[in-house]
Amino acid sequence: MPAIEVKGLTKAFRTYKKQPGFAGAVRGLFRRHYEQLFAVKDINFTIEPGELVGFLGPNGAGKTTTLKMLSGLLYPTSGTASVLGHVPWHRHDDYRRRFALLLGQKNQLWWDLPARESLDLNAKIYGIPDADRDRTVAEMTELLGVKDKLNVQVRELSLGERMKMELTASLLHQPKVLFLDEPTIGLDVVSQKTVREFLRAHNAKNKTTIVLTSHYMTDIQELCERVIIIDHGRLFFDGRLEEIVDRFADFKLLTVHCVNAAACPADSLTRFGEVVEQNASFIKLKVKRDRVVPVCKALLDELPVQDLDIEEVPIEDVIRTIFAR
Ligand SMILES: Nc1ncnc2c1ncn2[C@@H]1O[C@H](COP(=O)(O)OP(=O)(O)OP(=O)(O)O)[C@@H](O)[C@H]1O
Ligand SMILES: [Mg+2]
Repeated sequence: MPAIEVKGLTKAFRTYKKQPGFAGAVRGLFRRHYEQLFAVKDINFTIEPGELVGFLGPNGAGKTTTLKMLSGLLYPTSGTASVLGHVPWHRHDDYRRRFALLLGQKNQLWWDLPARESLDLNAKIYGIPDADRDRTVAEMTELLGVKDKLNVQVRELSLGERMKMELTASLLHQPKVLFLDEPTIGLDVVSQKTVREFLRAHNAKNKTTIVLTSHYMTDIQELCERVIIIDHGRLFFDGRLEEIVDRFADFKLLTVHCVNAAACPADSLTRFGEVVEQNASFIKLKVKRDRVVPVCKALLDELPVQDLDIEEVPIEDVIRTIFAR
């Protein structure tokens, strides 16, 4: 049985549209103009137990809305979902004990309490025995490098420290499914790496199913073999990360090393492709995929070529172009 199965999932929000100006505001008192906005529209996917899937999309694509529905915080407008055999928005106690949602943009711990007490409260809510709680907290905070911060008030913790505590809190009850919405947002590169490595190890060891959103492509590249991309609420891509380059990158990067490369007139190069970089030792060109072979041939004929490199455009750039269109 799949861990997560989503069919035709849709969420429409009714938003009030204010008419411009004072007269509009007055008119609005009597008749409101509502608009329907589809935050998520007819999304389908299936995730197997133990998978670690990246959930991508530009701002406002519908990622958080989807994760909230899968966590039972929002009712869908239509469609169905099953997570570990439960319909999330039925909010069965059994389900609550088997998944966790971490919202990186929100603080889910008790602000005024020391981290340890906040974790204790979370453990109480889930009815976790003290011994299990102590073992998990010790292990997680050790791995995340925040063991010495357990007595600090949550409000006093740095962003990164707080996020690591939040992560610990979300794992206390050992969920089988973990929804992580931007768990590395605002963290420095070292902390991002710590969190990433922690997640990778946790996924490998516990076979936890993880759905992760992040605007940092490093997170996605290092953790997720599979990605689901949504855009304007619709599913845009579901497949292996590398496949994105094959399918959506129209270009390859060609680096030509030759003597006195800088002297080569730029306008004679543009017929091969866009010049990305040019200096004394090499010229870097962005060349249409289907033109790479003929361009290489022509370059070898025309320039004193010493070496030639052909690279794929970085995934990050490909994603950026996908999001921009
Ligand atoms: N409660 C709400 N009422 C009305 N509109 C909403 C509500 N929540 C979200 N939206 C809208 O739904 C769309 C999707 O929002 P969502 O938060 O799911 O995007 P996201 O993919 O998580 O974006 P980001 O990368 O910025 O976090 C947005 O246009 C947002 O303005
Ligand atoms: Mg979001």
